[in-house]
Amino acid sequence: MQQFVPLMRSTTIRILCSLVLLISLTDAQTMTIAQRVDSLLRLMTLDEKVGQLNQYTDDGVATGPVTLDKDKPQQVKQGKLGSILNVLGGERTRSWQKIAMQSRLRIPLLFGQDVVHGYKTTFPIPLAEACSWDLEAMERAARIAAVEASAGGVHWTFAPMVDISRDPRWGRVMEGAGEDTYLGSQIAAARVRGFQGKGIGQTDAVMACVKHFAAYGAAVGGRDYNSVDMSDRMLWETYLPPFKAALDAGAGTFMNSFNDLNGIPATGNSYLMRDILKGKWNFSGFVVSDWGSVGEMINHGSVKDPADAARSAILAGCDMDMESRCYTGTLAKLVTDGVVPMAVVDDAVRRILTKKFELGLFDDPYRFCDPKREAKALNEPAHAAAARDMARKSIVLLKNEKNILPISKGTKTIAFIGPLVKAVKQNKGFWDVELPGVDSNFIVTQWEGLQEKIGKHSTLLYAKGCEIEGNDRSGFAEAVETAKKADVVILSIGERRDMSGEAKSRSDLSIPGVQVELAMELLKTGKPVVVLINAGRPLVFNELADAAPAILYTWWLGSEAGNAIADVLFGDYNPSAKLAMTFPRSVGQIPIYYNYYNTGRPATGDNDRFYRSAYIDLSIHPRYEFGYGLGYSPFTYSGLKLSVGSMSMTGTIQASVTITNAGKYAGEEVVQLYLRDLVGSIIRPMKELKDFRKIALAPGESKTITFTIDKEKLSFYDQHVQWVAEPGEFELMIGASSRDIRQKERFTLTK
Ligand code: GLC
Repeated sequence: MQQFVPLMRSTTIRILCSLVLLISLTDAQTMTIAQRVDSLLRLMTLDEKVGQLNQYTDDGVATGPVTLDKDKPQQVKQGKLGSILNVLGGERTRSWQKIAMQSRLRIPLLFGQDVVHGYKTTFPIPLAEACSWDLEAMERAARIAAVEASAGGVHWTFAPMVDISRDPRWGRVMEGAGEDTYLGSQIAAARVRGFQGKGIGQTDAVMACVKHFAAYGAAVGGRDYNSVDMSDRMLWETYLPPFKAALDAGAGTFMNSFNDLNGIPATGNSYLMRDILKGKWNFSGFVVSDWGSVGEMINHGSVKDPADAARSAILAGCDMDMESRCYTGTLAKLVTDGVVPMAVVDDAVRRILTKKFELGLFDDPYRFCDPKREAKALNEPAHAAAARDMARKSIVLLKNEKNILPISKGTKTIAFIGPLVKAVKQNKGFWDVELPGVDSNFIVTQWEGLQEKIGKHSTLLYAKGCEIEGNDRSGFAEAVETAKKADVVILSIGERRDMSGEAKSRSDLSIPGVQVELAMELLKTGKPVVVLINAGRPLVFNELADAAPAILYTWWLGSEAGNAIADVLFGDYNPSAKLAMTFPRSVGQIPIYYNYYNTGRPATGDNDRFYRSAYIDLSIHPRYEFGYGLGYSPFTYSGLKLSVGSMSMTGTIQASVTITNAGKYAGEEVVQLYLRDLVGSIIRPMKELKDFRKIALAPGESKTITFTIDKEKLSFYDQHVQWVAEPGEFELMIGASSRDIRQKERFTLTK
């Protein structure tokens, strides 16, 4: 048990405090965490309390605009800094913690890190993982990330990001779970379970941080940090549920968002943090600001200076100030001036100290700084195997004409062309963790993956062809010549990994540079060409989508990218992923999503001109719809049956359907259940995803699955933002995608 030995100058105070502390120590074994927090709080000065609300980044690493500050160690010793982010490795965290142990009350530091899709072992970007619809696999990925990060001294990850978004111009779509509230909620909970494992305080777990609260994904124009304006109904129905799902899964902390919401910055938004999060939802953890977002309220124009920013944020429920220095610079005076009640500061400090106690940091501040455990955890073969499994489940097969795929392993000569074939770190995508002293040779490049798979009995030819960006076509000739020598051509193209992520909004979603031109040149050879598209978001590539016979969307698949791509290309894994986000035909079509309203003039086809706000120059349909993805085996759906044709508010309906693998490859199918409320007190979407099952079927095998419909699945927020279910008729749809509806039935909900 840690001994509180305050460094007091005066003997009297020293004896008194030691006496108090001695009593508290003897009770420590029996005291609850709440009691320990309160006994510590009583000893803290106002400056020390404010220090617990203050967070800086470590030197040399930044995920936001940096304030140069050379005396961080001194501030730690003075108890003016409670948390540091971007501290990597057991040794580095130990050295910081040792400084904290020199402070008067020896309150341990809390180390936070963006462990978003892996620590050393890098998993696919979260949007790619979401396309797997495999909750267990996503939970396992987060679990492994937590095992590695906690071994590396990290207590707290700034993940999962649960922002729903319908706008691929926004670069941060790569970080979330796509456009759908139901799927996003399931994934949010799975990721929290993975990160926190058996609970906060386990040394193989990290505390989750649900972000960005809230509605950050609805930024106007898909421009990062931009304003958000929506009805409370839309907020509650579409954007808040994944946050609630993460909270219900036990998430320890929340992070608020950069955007203003309906005119009030999220960082100073008491409706979000007090009324909803800490009020209605009774959240007992703490809220950290986003990087500098407290001070940035000055730019927003909701406050006039740093003191006003600190006042607004702390009163609105933002407990910790990441990197804006408003709290450390002004909060103590706001309290002594009576502007901010001490009780508000105490509540914030209590929330943060509670987490530090739960993490066991007061019992052993170094319990996460174990170099031996770190070395073992960062070199677990099982982690790489899980990353490979997650990656191949994330690859979406968009097209496979004449069944070019899978490629036979006996193929004599294969040309592997493109600027991403031999790229290394590109495969990690944005929000990867760059570990000091760890080189990148654990990343399996796409070239290495294919070599490993078929290099022994096939000839693998390489040509770069062109760069990701720029208009240099000088490599085309060599690429075409290489293709002519091959039986099959594989082309790997796409964005640069840092073209999506934070502050990476794009107004043009085309595949950059002359990569598509290269593809068209290769197609002219008449060889079968399989295109791999690497990106952090849906891109627009109509010409290629029409011309290429086979397309795999490989996103950014992480450290096992090469092996996963090879597994799918050569049929060792039958692709099963389904898009978690709609792919538009053009930027002009955005926002476009599957759960739209019918409008007064619904269009059923491209020739309906006076209908559903269609464009005169574009199809009404997206390029690829939510839930879309092919496999090597077709699946048939049959025999949809409802247990009853109507149900009461307290009743349920069982909907069963049979799925058959009609192909020659074993595979998995994501069976999607959509519901439509045909008439409501407010209009309801054409369909909403309300359940899904991912099932594995051998060739020829059939399985009957059953979904349960209950009142919860039929409920929605009415115009008064009340969660209601209304009697009436519903349509139940079972689909292989949101557009490929295979079976449907109607039923009635009675009073
Ligand atoms: C960034 C991001 C946030 C991240 C934080 C710390 O600005 O918005 O998601 O967790 O700063 O890196």
